[in-house]
Amino acid sequence: EKGPYPHYMLKEIDEQPFVIRKLVTKYQNGDGEITIDENIREALQETDRIYIVACGTSYHAGLVGKQLFERIAHIPVEVHIASEFLYNRPLLSSHPMFIFISQSGETADSRGVLVDIKKSGYRALALTNVPGSTLSRESDFTLITHAGPEIAVASTKAYTAQIAVLAILASDCARNRGIQRNFDLFKELGLAANAMEIMINRKEQIEEIVWKYLSVSRNCFFIGRSVDYYVCLEGALKLKEISYIQAEGFAGGELKHGTIALIEEGTPVIALLTQPHVSGNIRSNVQEVMARGANVCMISIEGIEDKNDQLVVPHIHEYLTPLVSVIPLQLIAYYAALYRGCDVDKPRNLAKSVTVE
Ligand code: M6R
Repeated sequence: EKGPYPHYMLKEIDEQPFVIRKLVTKYQNGDGEITIDENIREALQETDRIYIVACGTSYHAGLVGKQLFERIAHIPVEVHIASEFLYNRPLLSSHPMFIFISQSGETADSRGVLVDIKKSGYRALALTNVPGSTLSRESDFTLITHAGPEIAVASTKAYTAQIAVLAILASDCARNRGIQRNFDLFKELGLAANAMEIMINRKEQIEEIVWKYLSVSRNCFFIGRSVDYYVCLEGALKLKEISYIQAEGFAGGELKHGTIALIEEGTPVIALLTQPHVSGNIRSNVQEVMARGANVCMISIEGIEDKNDQLVVPHIHEYLTPLVSVIPLQLIAYYAALYRGCDVDKPRNLAKSVTVE
């Protein structure tokens, strides 16, 4: 039930720190170590390449997951949009392992790929929020995201839960492969949950940002580099899905290869910066778009912030920043939809679970 909340989406945004803390208890044993089904461990030990298959927001979580697996566990990962996989079927490695990410576990496009790869005898893990769902039943293994029922069509808490479970899985793989972990996963997840809470308590500030940057605009660009680019894709999807503002996420470096032509006086650009190694580059992208009249809202992280940034998220480990940086983007989408009088929880033309291909 919604309780005191006007919309499920707002309730689900607020639940995110709680979900992360719940995942820490679900995936941690009494000794503070990761607890995961031994069969999943074995399958991941044997693989030489992971193929993540998903749609929409779950695909965006998969992109973050790729970076986590490659940085933490040194396993190569490809991420595929389910609806494209069968046409652009990748050449598979000798020991592929598939991970299907799906909040509902019912998405037809993802299931189509699962049925296909099972015919070839490949192993699949379903990462889903719904135990007993079709993808869970038809996969060899399941990991549950424990986000609780997600009612709003726009996915929020499922996304952060998927990222947290992918981080847990990647850390577990690293340990099993004898790779020295350079960060204390559960401690960092706890710190991330605290930081998420801080952002959730800054709704008024985010509402003002929406008022200032998005009250009249028909379009909006999100720019970021490295993992921030993936979060920009998610922020743009959220905004277009519920507020019907045309929004696109771009890699900062791609601007000069075409997109910058779209920037004119007053164009809103939301720039995300959580990764120190891209700081200089993204700030010069911001200068470039500002010089062409863009109305830039800079969202950065403590440690690399500038006094002129509109929003600064609390510092957390650089592997986990999407858990926190996505929250202002979710809230921006929420308030933009609200101001436009849109049906926040049930946007037009969309269904919560897409069971047709
Ligand atoms: O249930 P799934 O995670 O498989 O759903 C995938 C997409 O349909 C879903 O994430 C969709 O993009 C959301 N409405 C985005 O907010």
